Amino acid sequence: MIKVMFVCLGNICRSPMAEFILKDLVKKKGIENEFLIKSSATSYEEIGNDVHYGTVRKLNSVGVPIEHREAVRLTQNDYRTYDYILGMEEANIRNILRIVGDDSENKVYRLLDFSKNSRDIADPWYTGNFDKTYEDILEGCNAFLETVLSKK
Ligand code: 4NP
Repeated sequence: MIKVMFVCLGNICRSPMAEFILKDLVKKKGIENEFLIKSSATSYEEIGNDVHYGTVRKLNSVGVPIEHREAVRLTQNDYRTYDYILGMEEANIRNILRIVGDDSENKVYRLLDFSKNSRDIADPWYTGNFDKTYEDILEGCNAFLETVLSKK
């Protein structure tokens, strides 16, 4: 079982989008039973809130199934449970490390560090551009999946 925790600031836009995209990719490959995929926040801002409408609308338009959910905060225990803790941007990585302590087991990565073009995921919070966020996350999830499957 490969356990993946996606993390962003609020857990309503980017990390749930990554959760649903990776779930869809592994389902299409018929390997969904080999994965546990969740998402969480570094902040308390949106705890309990459902997925942002921009993420829902974008994923509906490309046929990626979404689940209604309540935003949760990353915990220290998650560090022990999950194999990969994947932040969306550099600021997430700093905040993840504040919550979990140091990354002694090398589990914490920025999602697009798995891509050849290493960078932050576009943040839709101020721009409202969920298309760019979707493209970035899809690229990151495909690159991540390629890496973990090549290690099997
Ligand atoms: P997310 O988006 O981190 O991708 O879920 C945001 C959600 C909330 C805030 C910022 C970004 N906020 O400032 O409350």
